[in-house]
Amino acid sequence: MCGIVGYVGRRQAQEILLSGLSKLEYRGYDSAGVAIYHENVLSIEKTLGRLKGLEDRLDGQPVQGTIGIGHTRWATHGKPSTENAHPHTDCSGDFVVVHNGIIENYLALREELEAKGHRFVSETDTEVVSHLVEDLFTGDLFTTVLAVIQKMRGAFALGVLSKREPDKLIAVRSHSPLVIGLGEGENFLASDIPAILPYTRDVLILDEGEMAVLTQDGVQCYDLQGQPHGKDVFTVTWDAVAAEKDGYEHYMLKEIHEQPRAVSDTLRGRITEDGRRVILPELAWTSEEIKQFDRIHIVACGTSYHAGLVGKVVIEQLARIPVDVEIASEYRYRDPIVSDRTLVMVISQSGETADTLAALRNAQERGNKVLAITNVVGSSVAREANDVIITWAGPEISVASTKAYTTQLIALYLFSVYLAQAKGTIQGEALATIVQALLELPQKLSEVLDTAPKIEEIAKAFSSWDDAFFLGRGLDYSVALEGALKYKEISYIHAEAYPSGELKHGTLALIVDDVPVVALLTQDALYEKSISNIKEVKARGAHVVAIAWAGDEETQKSVDRVLYVPKTLSFLAPIVLVVPLQLLAYYASVARGNDVDKPRNLAKSVTVE
Ligand code: M6R
Repeated sequence: MCGIVGYVGRRQAQEILLSGLSKLEYRGYDSAGVAIYHENVLSIEKTLGRLKGLEDRLDGQPVQGTIGIGHTRWATHGKPSTENAHPHTDCSGDFVVVHNGIIENYLALREELEAKGHRFVSETDTEVVSHLVEDLFTGDLFTTVLAVIQKMRGAFALGVLSKREPDKLIAVRSHSPLVIGLGEGENFLASDIPAILPYTRDVLILDEGEMAVLTQDGVQCYDLQGQPHGKDVFTVTWDAVAAEKDGYEHYMLKEIHEQPRAVSDTLRGRITEDGRRVILPELAWTSEEIKQFDRIHIVACGTSYHAGLVGKVVIEQLARIPVDVEIASEYRYRDPIVSDRTLVMVISQSGETADTLAALRNAQERGNKVLAITNVVGSSVAREANDVIITWAGPEISVASTKAYTTQLIALYLFSVYLAQAKGTIQGEALATIVQALLELPQKLSEVLDTAPKIEEIAKAFSSWDDAFFLGRGLDYSVALEGALKYKEISYIHAEAYPSGELKHGTLALIVDDVPVVALLTQDALYEKSISNIKEVKARGAHVVAIAWAGDEETQKSVDRVLYVPKTLSFLAPIVLVVPLQLLAYYASVARGNDVDKPRNLAKSVTVE
């Protein structure tokens, strides 16, 4: 999982490559490198660690040249090191390659090449590509790369540059994302759109099994058999500043504060003008088609999986269809019981998570219709699913997912109501009440965000502890899971989410004096039982912060502190509840001096198993 960029044009490539890589560091950041061609010299510069190290080095000694490729790495094959950093070259130094993905048969290819006398300097799978290009070079770079990729198995997005044909870049997409940016007298390649957005809004999103040749004067796309074809230009409408920090100290904080807007955008166009019904124009499903689904499998990873847990409760409650929620890395290796009446739903912010994508493909092979909820329009998941609901969260840069989760919940609520309408399980005023409550959520989110200073205070106190517990029942428990994940991920503090009623079956043993406990209390039907559980932990000395509905005077009698969230329908509570938990994790991470946006050992988009 890495980010790649490429530039060919009239400007100095170095600055453009470094700027592009800075927008892709969310994909990995254990080393970075660039290769730039100028007057028969192909210079390769790489450093271990963050891009900043490379920038500092090149600052003093810029590399000249108007064509080049660059890479920011998240190690898969071979430890993070300068030798393993990309770009990788061949024995002659005439060919350079950047790669995102995994070449599964690289060991066999490496042995073959070594037997022919090729000398390898890294432990990576990528290096076989540059040696293969050298080995198979016919005098024509394009046909050589075509021949090379026929020999490779796995997932790869490639950028290839050669001293022998220094006017062009070759781009290849096979199971890893790649986009081409179209400029005036210059063209770009990148793993993701934000990398090229400062230079152009006209983009070609390469499809699975496509490649392109870029020169400064144009771009030609081909299939992997070398047949040329045309391609529609996608004009990016979102703003470059949307991908910047916008004055916030971290992307995560900016993205938390963007949630009222993101939720509004995700609702827009999906509710009738009279505000009484849901419409999903992207799903041209008839009532008969909807009624034939008798089971839903929701498949996802991490935060998206947690959104799925909420989706289960809501779909079952509103549409009365049984739902199973599964972790993609488990589901893909099971032999799940499905029928042609099972709808498989995948949820993925990036749309590139390898396990989720594999689960999608398996489901389609079994003949199931797949509906995707994703945030990235041109992503693999969006393109391969039978139907897609896009969450309009905008680019999410911080590794910790925030606005993606709330907008996934909105997509799930809309979909649940859409199913329920078609099945007639909710109608009339009950339906209109839900739709109105959905429309009120952006305002309620803004009110929650106003409580940030109080949450910061609590986070500072909690951050000196090495444990924290998040408790809840019903949907409060689903949100507790997300709160604990967020807390662990960026504060590095051990956190556990527990269904409150299950505590006394083991975990209560961990409750000692002053240990931080966050208790969620929005499920009215379970309120009294939850209060009893809070008393159990209070009696053992825990320091309890509750999150409860505004106007609830009762809770403060049983806890140390209460944070209030504006009242909405119980099944919409996850939207307003998760925000204090996101802020708690954020401020605890800041208090501990962590790198909030790039937590250790993690990357934004997990495009390998
Ligand atoms: O892009 P996806 O939604 O498929 O990503 C799934 C997980 O990797 C992701 O939600 C991860 O758990 C987040 N970093 C958590 O904040």
